[in-house]
Amino acid sequence: MDKLRTYVLGATGLVGQRYVEALARHPWFEVVGLAASEKSAGKTLASVWILESPPPPQLAEAKVEKLDVESVPKVDVVFSALPSEVASRVEPELAARGLTVVSNSSNMRLDPDVPLVVPEINPEDLRLVEEQRRRRGWRGAVVKKPNCTTTILNLPLKPILDHWGIAKLYVTTMQAVSGAGYSGVPSMAIVDNLVPHIRGEEEKVVAETRKILKRDVDISATTTRVPVLDGHTEVVYVETERDFELESVAEALENFRGLPQELKLPTAPERPVVVRREPDRPQPRLDRWAGGGMAVVVGRLRKLAPRRLAFVALGHNTIRGAAGNSILTAELMAKMWP
Ligand SMILES: NC(=O)c1ccc[n+]([C@@H]2O[C@H](COP(=O)([O-])OP(=O)(O)OC[C@H]3O[C@@H](n4cnc5c(N)ncnc54)[C@H](OP(=O)(O)O)[C@@H]3O)[C@@H](O)[C@H]2O)c1
Repeated sequence: MDKLRTYVLGATGLVGQRYVEALARHPWFEVVGLAASEKSAGKTLASVWILESPPPPQLAEAKVEKLDVESVPKVDVVFSALPSEVASRVEPELAARGLTVVSNSSNMRLDPDVPLVVPEINPEDLRLVEEQRRRRGWRGAVVKKPNCTTTILNLPLKPILDHWGIAKLYVTTMQAVSGAGYSGVPSMAIVDNLVPHIRGEEEKVVAETRKILKRDVDISATTTRVPVLDGHTEVVYVETERDFELESVAEALENFRGLPQELKLPTAPERPVVVRREPDRPQPRLDRWAGGGMAVVVGRLRKLAPRRLAFVALGHNTIRGAAGNSILTAELMAKMWP
């Protein structure tokens, strides 16, 4: 089969380059164009590369284009990693031109006709695209992935919800600096420090979790920034609706699988949730690459009282929390609508 053609918006940023890295070795997709702001226009990918691994050789000399909606070619998928204020203008225009945009930006995530998808949790929401096209008169579509923290939180929550119900939830996060983009957090603000506030993040965790799980879950969230490069850690307390055996929770997390695993999609991790039983795991440096960055690692699983569960979850924020989740979503769309 011919590869599906993709175009990456925000290709000089942290998430954009995670897309490029993963798409360059993807069995179904290929990158046919890269765009960013005027500042990057005309530069080679190699000259603006910021990840620790080298740029994919076949794309190293590709030129970054200045983003212009009219010049985005008729590709199969546009992957968007733009600041949301830019995306909120550009993405609807691309969808109106007939392009399918799979996006990381926070604009439109809560619109009722916009799928907000973690493929293992709510793949059925991709059907909202039909309503979106009807309501907005678009030939294309905009599909969103949730906020990185929300995605990492919701993967272990889903089997807990399905087996025992969730009455109440408290989460405190320790989020990596890469979560704010390449120039998001000044080094002087974060080295030897912790910042106990991330603007808009707590509200996103609450609202997006309710949309993904389709429940009005009672959630209290505190989000903080810590001096870790990649990998968001989340301390979670869940009050379940029904009592549980701790070992059954560990088993439910380990056995959790979704449609991507059933369909054997190329970037689906074998296990979306990995349980570590050592008392000092998960840790960002040791665990962020589990499942190629696509698995969430859960540890410190404890029963504090009847119906009171505690655990620590960790996930790679620019892979499962961003580009990886979007690519998995696009794989699912390619399989559902070949
Ligand atoms: N980092 C994460 O963990 C994460 C997780 C989930 C979601 N997200 C979301 O994903 C998006 C990208 O995040 P990021 O971390 O990759 O940010 P980033 O490192 O700051 O990259 C931003 C990208 O957008 C481009 N850009 C900025 N203004 C533009 C404009 N006017 N026209 C065209 N391109 C423009 C930049 O190009 P230049 O280099 O040319 O300026 C760069 O390629 C954001 O909406 C973010 O909220 C990020």
